[in-house]
Amino acid sequence: MKAIILKTFGPAENLTYIEKEVPIAGSEEVLIRTRSISINPIDVKIRAGQRPAFKDKLPLILGWDIAGDVVSAGKNVKEFKAGDRVFGMICFPNPGNAYAEFTVAPAKDLAIIPVNIGYAEAACSGIAALTALQALRNFAPVQPHQRVLVHAAAGGVGHFAIQLAKYFDAYVIGTASASNNNFVLNLGADECIDYKATIFEDAAKDIDLVIDTIGGNYIQRSLKTMKPGATIVSIPSILNAEVTQLAEADGKHGYPLLVKQNTEDLNFIADLLSKGILKPFISHVFSFDEMVAAHLQIESGKTQGKIVVSF
Ligand SMILES: NC(=O)c1ccc[n+]([C@@H]2O[C@H](COP(=O)([O-])OP(=O)(O)OC[C@H]3O[C@@H](n4cnc5c(N)ncnc54)[C@H](OP(=O)(O)O)[C@@H]3O)[C@@H](O)[C@H]2O)c1
Repeated sequence: MKAIILKTFGPAENLTYIEKEVPIAGSEEVLIRTRSISINPIDVKIRAGQRPAFKDKLPLILGWDIAGDVVSAGKNVKEFKAGDRVFGMICFPNPGNAYAEFTVAPAKDLAIIPVNIGYAEAACSGIAALTALQALRNFAPVQPHQRVLVHAAAGGVGHFAIQLAKYFDAYVIGTASASNNNFVLNLGADECIDYKATIFEDAAKDIDLVIDTIGGNYIQRSLKTMKPGATIVSIPSILNAEVTQLAEADGKHGYPLLVKQNTEDLNFIADLLSKGILKPFISHVFSFDEMVAAHLQIESGKTQGKIVVSF
């Protein structure tokens, strides 16, 4: 099969096409014929050598968000059989091995793709959708009519967070550049702040829950928008407790988030996809031969919604 291997951390051009044996599924795993994968900022950060935990894992195959067909299932797998269409966030945070025509994944990391949903949409709905759901629900679960501020509302996590926060009946404010304003409003946001033209902490007030997808000084700036006792969930600050300390010093709550695979959450997302309540927006579709271009797109920091690589 064709696969893409990373032998040395560095630029996107370090992604190298190879031929290798089709892997064999273990007793708790399934072998998947890959149909679509989605690329996330974590793929790019690891490729660039920004994640020390991966230092000893070279050579490796990147990729965690997958959708495809089950070819065979291990002897202890009861949930899936050959021919099932499945999707999920696989093996995270270990190497996912999804940049390949065939991939082995633990059955516990997968869910069935609804019949009315395509492989590309399903592949988009792993890391980013799980992160958005877990940020909104796992710390200070969002309540109807609460005010939620979502940073980078036009991005992968943000565009799911806007839709999910509306589903939970919140009043939702996003931040995005002017060119993404209508995109964010069309996702259902009640307001969108052009963060380049407006100081967002002047425009957003009395916030109950902040979904911080930017980190750095966005934590302290966001605290200024929040009610006493409100919560900020910071997604890029997983490696330190800074958000907790800063929030507590200000009479608020702060949590770092590391997305976790959870079949119940994946099925919850699948259900919303099938009902058309959650709609992944795919701004670019690349072929497997265009992986370098896909990485450069994510690296630009300007991706609208999600991008996929289809086989
Ligand atoms: N901890 C975890 O488990 C976890 C899970 C998922 C993601 N993450 C992290 O969360 C971050 C976001 O991920 P993602 O997939 O959503 O990224 P993404 O899709 O690449 O985000 C791109 C978007 O960011 C927007 N943006 C950039 N700077 C902005 C700013 N200052 N204010 C508002 N919007 C801004 C851009 O919109 P404009 O063009 O309008 O600026 C663009 O639409 C990444 O750092 C990722 O690694 C962490």
